[in-house]
Amino acid sequence: MATYELKINGNTHSVDVDPSTPILWVLRDHLQLVGTKFGCGISQCGACTIHVEGNATRSCQIPVSAIGNKKITTIEGLSKNGDHPVQQAWLEHDVPQCGYCQAGQIMTAAALLDSNPNPTDEDIEATMSGNICRCGTYTRIKAAIKTAAK
Ligand code: FES
Repeated sequence: MATYELKINGNTHSVDVDPSTPILWVLRDHLQLVGTKFGCGISQCGACTIHVEGNATRSCQIPVSAIGNKKITTIEGLSKNGDHPVQQAWLEHDVPQCGYCQAGQIMTAAALLDSNPNPTDEDIEATMSGNICRCGTYTRIKAAIKTAAK
């Protein structure tokens, strides 16, 4: 076990965990930030996507020991009032079906728009292709990203 001071959603959290614990499980099991989902556990589906220093990052394969002072943002911290443009566009387009993958989808989309405010269809497809949705909401996801980019 080791103690880590983690900067998450603008607050510092102290946790005592095994250094090899994936940050996903620190968020979910130790800090009750359960908006970040477990899908595959092998960095293949995108359900666990968070931001690390603003970059979309899969939390299931990153040990807590690798985080250091880097700033983490989870879906709970993406906006203070749920009014992030991507979240608003998700509501407008009624994107989710079962909803399980959507936090990861939104976090990936938000990071895309931070780095590329006017993405082309190809940019969106290339960035979002690693986030799997078993309900097949891809058409609405793409439309919502385009709305959020306006
Ligand atoms: Fe991390 Fe699937 S749970 S990529």
